[in-house]
Amino acid sequence: MSETKVSAGLFITLEGGEGSGKSVQCAKLCDRLKQHFSELLTVKTREPGGSPGAESIRQILLTGETDRWLPVSELLLFYAARYDHWKRTILPALERGGVVVCDRFFDSSIVYQGYARGLPESFFDAIHKIFDEAEKERCFVPDRTYILDIDPVEGVARSNRRISSVEVKEDRFERINMEFHQKVREGYFDILRKNSARCKKIDASRSIEDIHEDIWEDAVELLARHH
Ligand code: TYD
Repeated sequence: MSETKVSAGLFITLEGGEGSGKSVQCAKLCDRLKQHFSELLTVKTREPGGSPGAESIRQILLTGETDRWLPVSELLLFYAARYDHWKRTILPALERGGVVVCDRFFDSSIVYQGYARGLPESFFDAIHKIFDEAEKERCFVPDRTYILDIDPVEGVARSNRRISSVEVKEDRFERINMEFHQKVREGYFDILRKNSARCKKIDASRSIEDIHEDIWEDAVELLARHH
């Protein structure tokens, strides 16, 4: 990925397995950023989804039988949604100097479709090359990624409690077996090892407030360095 592209705005992603509490942390981080830096454009978004086209793809990705999609089709659907999301939501906000906080991004694909479903690294290199060449303005790699780590047994149980209370169940991934979720966790550990400057591990077994304080402290420091 080219290092020479200009960097405007700040792109933060949150990652983690099922029930790690990413969505709550995205919301808390954004709310506090808006409160403390009212002049700053803050955009909260998520994957799969985050733009109208990508939200349509979300529906067909997250519902139905666990084997609804072949791994390669699934990967391409995630990236089709991602490119739309990147071009139509994330990039415009970054170009305006904003902070974008995104619930999952490409590390999720590397972990879920790569480590857990077994697709090779070369697939990701190839797709990232397409992204890189299609996008001359800015590198799509996040400035900071918080990886919320939790034992999958606890995480999936938390996630299932939440799902049982909603009507439309986007639970195609939660229903996959525990071995899959263990692989997801291992995948994130590997990403942490390989991207130690970008990624930070956050112990997600603690209280919502404790987790938030860790993220907040780091994000504010990052913002101060960036602007
Ligand atoms: P979601 O309902 O957003 O759950 P969560 O709160 O865990 O983020 O569902 C997203 C699901 O999609 C989740 O199980 C992870 C999976 N996923 C992938 O497999 N690959 C990807 O690239 C992304 C973005 C998500």
